[in-house]
Amino acid sequence: MQIDWNSLRFSYTETDYIVRASYHGHRLADGTLEGTWSEPVATRNKILPMHVCATSLQYGQEAFEGLKVFRGIDNKIRVFRWQANAHRMQQSAIGLYMAPVPTELFGKAVELAVRKNKRFIPPYETGATLYLRPLLIGTTPKLGVGPGWDFEFIIIPSPVGPYYKTEGDAIPCQTFIVNRHVDRAAAFGTGRYKVGGNYAASFRGTETAHQQGYDCLFLDSRQHKYIDECSAANFIGIRYGEQTQYITPRSSAILPSITNDSLMTLAKEQGLKVVRRHIRLEEISQMDEAAACGTACVISPIDKVIDPDKNQTYTLPQAPGKVLMGLRKALQDIQYGRAEDKHHWCNIIQ
Ligand SMILES: Cc1ncc(COP(=O)(O)O)c(C=O)c1O
Repeated sequence: MQIDWNSLRFSYTETDYIVRASYHGHRLADGTLEGTWSEPVATRNKILPMHVCATSLQYGQEAFEGLKVFRGIDNKIRVFRWQANAHRMQQSAIGLYMAPVPTELFGKAVELAVRKNKRFIPPYETGATLYLRPLLIGTTPKLGVGPGWDFEFIIIPSPVGPYYKTEGDAIPCQTFIVNRHVDRAAAFGTGRYKVGGNYAASFRGTETAHQQGYDCLFLDSRQHKYIDECSAANFIGIRYGEQTQYITPRSSAILPSITNDSLMTLAKEQGLKVVRRHIRLEEISQMDEAAACGTACVISPIDKVIDPDKNQTYTLPQAPGKVLMGLRKALQDIQYGRAEDKHHWCNIIQ
């Protein structure tokens, strides 16, 4: 099959192989898991036979990840910060009483997924990438409510198109609408884990926003006062000043974005003051730039935030703004091998 790289969107395109590893174990009297992981294997079979009572199907015992593989300007293959995704998936696994995938196994599986699907890594000029979707699911058949002890770890690769078809000044902006009637995650719930349940819970908010032509801004679920997340991305606000500030929410309910973490490092290097704190919704009126950030879009500028309950619209003066667009470029330069990778974020696969 010949892929038309330029027509790729952020959607699934099947590749030759997925990678799988299985965990079989049991629970000790105190609830801890004991068991072993198999070695990862590549398989062409994308169908997973599973018991209808599997804990992932019955109780949502599942977690996933998302990371990208880039074909650089030098034609080298770069995997971006897979160790950070391995760590975050381990946190999700612990949070949902699953067996964490050891970092070494995660790394081997990533490498195997890339090597077996090299022909699906898009050429540099296209701006497209190979997205990897690691997935961890509970497979123990159980009817009584409780965590299982058998798990399947899978890496699903898919080439995906660039988030924007155009670069530079033509980058489109997103408008967000606040929804105080749907919460994505509870204050001390699973919001900080990348688990399917959070996304299913957010659909009522995100789909309602899409029907109105917007994306959904989630506030903290306890008071609906502070900014939590932009649909499935972190929020960043920029305030110009003697020392420009990069402000991003501190919250127990948001996903620790690896893109945001990388951008914070770059922002500090560029002399910005990085501040993580609660951000009241009204503070958007004091910001010069704002954006959503994540693996899929890197940085997506925000032009407006609509608060229908208060009949208020916040308009960002700079959209897209020079500070966030500069950071976006700095990160992409590292990912595509155009700038020195000082932080050793990219793993090169020969
Ligand atoms: C809810 C949510 N927040 C934030 C992010 C951004 O995280 P990352 O930068 O690691 O992709 C994602 C995407 O993975 C997400 O699903």
